[in-house]
Amino acid sequence: MQRTSARGNWSSAIGFILAALGSAVGLGNVWRFPYITGQYGGAAFILLYIGCVLAVGIPILLAELLIGRRTQRNPVGAFRILRPRSPWVVTGWLGVVSGFVILSYYAVVGGWVLHYLYLSLINSFSGKSPEQITALFANLNGQPWLQVFWLLMMMLLTILVVSRGVSRGIEAGNKIMMPLLFLLLLGLLVYALQTDGASAGLEFLLRPQWHKIGPAAVLEALGQALFSLSLGMGTMVTYGSYLSRQTHLVRSAFFVGLGDTLVAILAGFVLFPLVFSFGLEPSAGPGLIFRTLPIAFAQLPGSYLVALAFFVLLSFAALTSAISLLEVVCAYFVDEQGWARKNASWILGTMIFVLGIPSALGEQFLGFMDGLATNYLLPLGALLIAVFTGWVLTRDELRNAFSAGEISPFRFMGWWLLIRFISPVAVILIFLHQLGLF
Ligand code: PFF
Repeated sequence: MQRTSARGNWSSAIGFILAALGSAVGLGNVWRFPYITGQYGGAAFILLYIGCVLAVGIPILLAELLIGRRTQRNPVGAFRILRPRSPWVVTGWLGVVSGFVILSYYAVVGGWVLHYLYLSLINSFSGKSPEQITALFANLNGQPWLQVFWLLMMMLLTILVVSRGVSRGIEAGNKIMMPLLFLLLLGLLVYALQTDGASAGLEFLLRPQWHKIGPAAVLEALGQALFSLSLGMGTMVTYGSYLSRQTHLVRSAFFVGLGDTLVAILAGFVLFPLVFSFGLEPSAGPGLIFRTLPIAFAQLPGSYLVALAFFVLLSFAALTSAISLLEVVCAYFVDEQGWARKNASWILGTMIFVLGIPSALGEQFLGFMDGLATNYLLPLGALLIAVFTGWVLTRDELRNAFSAGEISPFRFMGWWLLIRFISPVAVILIFLHQLGLF
């Protein structure tokens, strides 16, 4: 017990929920979800995505939180406790490695967001032609050291929060940033729905184009659900490990899973009306929020505030997710190697900064790291966690890990069947697809 309090605890249930939502809500929601929805046919893809969140995402999320709360350890320690001296500890290692890999490039993209926040602060978009706006992004890409500078800023902010500890750093930071993020999102939504393109944007998002839904869309939706809910690398194991038995895990998992999905959908409802108002390309792909959206910001009434609100929101989204990525890595060194939290966050944060420099210097390397993480590391991690929960842990072990009255026998069976059969099969399908086997 003593060790538990030394490693930190959430100070309240709402603090934990906001931190878990902060991890889940990130660039994946505001940057990636809208453009893939654009590419795969709007409403049909959204329905498919919700199905994946319910059938695969939330069950794995619950499994990770449960493992964390039961063991009160980082991912490596958690598998060591549950199956001592077994190869399953590799799943924990994989999570720590994924934390290094993902944060190294995630913080580069987070750095772009900070740069755009700075550009919107000094009013760089208004009155500029679309060509000039597009040039802003090329300009950033052409100055690798400027990207390294913003990467450094992003990592410094992340380290500062994580080094302050679980409740005084991570929880406190999320308690400020997440409510503000929701407010900004709602404000932007009200604004976007009043622009000229609102009806075209809504139609685009609400009219299902079933013909675009095929195996590729299903796999994209599944992969996105894992990434967006921060699953497959023990982030939720780590966040769950700072919980006491009193927190209702089933409710928390639903709240976080559905909240994250709602934010992604609302982000689409903000972006597409703006995209259509200015005749921009809805399937502009990854460049949508950096190359395309500021073109709208250049011409909107009140554009200064809209652009600023948007990039503050995005900065918070990126930062709260980056924090959770660094926390996974730190928790391992604090729990298993006995490092002090301050040292762990500064030393590991600096290492990740260095690892991020190649991604800042070349977009190709960034793409490689992103592909490595989202196509291989996270699906593999998610598969191992699902198999471990569904096939290795006994049903009694699982039942005992829940608190009394936390889950009804009926729901337990439903969850157990999903995690035992549906989740592994779904993740294996993503895998085979990534490997180009079908
Ligand atoms: N969920 C984050 C997003 O949607 O941007 C990304 C992420 C954070 C993935 C933390 C994995 C993770 F462990």
